[in-house]
Amino acid sequence: MSQSLNTSDLESRLESLSAGEGLALIAELFPGKVVFSTSLGQEDQVITQLIATQNLPVQIFSLDTGRLFPETLELLARTESKYKTRIKVYYPETSSVEKLVGEIGINGFYESVENRKSCCYVRKVEPLKRALAGNEVWITGLRAEQSANRGGMKRVEWDEANQILKYNPLLDWTFDQMIAYINEHKIPYNPLHDQGFVSIGCAPCTRAIFPGEDARAGRWWWEDSKKECGLHAK
Ligand code: ADX
Ligand code: SF4
Repeated sequence: MSQSLNTSDLESRLESLSAGEGLALIAELFPGKVVFSTSLGQEDQVITQLIATQNLPVQIFSLDTGRLFPETLELLARTESKYKTRIKVYYPETSSVEKLVGEIGINGFYESVENRKSCCYVRKVEPLKRALAGNEVWITGLRAEQSANRGGMKRVEWDEANQILKYNPLLDWTFDQMIAYINEHKIPYNPLHDQGFVSIGCAPCTRAIFPGEDARAGRWWWEDSKKECGLHAK
């Protein structure tokens, strides 16, 4: 079956299902070949809860860039113990980080978009490729509402860069819907959200947002770019 047929067929099967049901269907259709990337953000915490409480055979993993907030790592530990699951953690290649920092400096990502993308490549994109290798479906917490760029994404899409089927179960969820779900199910979340942080990535590249600002305005706030790190090539 061609990739395009595959994705539209899946899309129509998933259309009438809830996120939890969709995750269960995907896990059943691709046994042992489904992975979920969590940044420990609110969307991802919802997906982790859906996977863990249904005991789905999906490997949950996170990319520790080496520059995350301590609160994020603490949440990872708290999530593992609450759901009695192991989140596999991937790290950047030591020699690549040493080379990068030698070239651009420890915080060289502030100096140009090019430097910033090189840092994101070494610390996130390359480890992601290792995490996805050998699998057939990559689950993410992307939501259409997060940015104009993400508004054009589909629930199921073929990811050309990583040659894998990408499934975004919360694509249509609104922010309020997500918060209500987190409260209802007492899902652990990052305490930084209560201090005005919405989208949380690496510490030096994330700030809290002001009322009325776009959800992703706090990411790479000094840049006038599409504010994507390269994980989600679009
Ligand atoms: S990013 O591209 O700007 O970093 P964002 O923080 O909005 O992404 O998260 C979108 C999705 O990308 C998350 O739901 C998650 O699937 C994945 N993701 C982002 N950062 C990480 C990370 N450090 N580890 C694992 N997955 C991540
Ligand atoms: Fe580097 Fe910042 Fe990208 Fe993190 S978000 S990988 S620190 S440039």
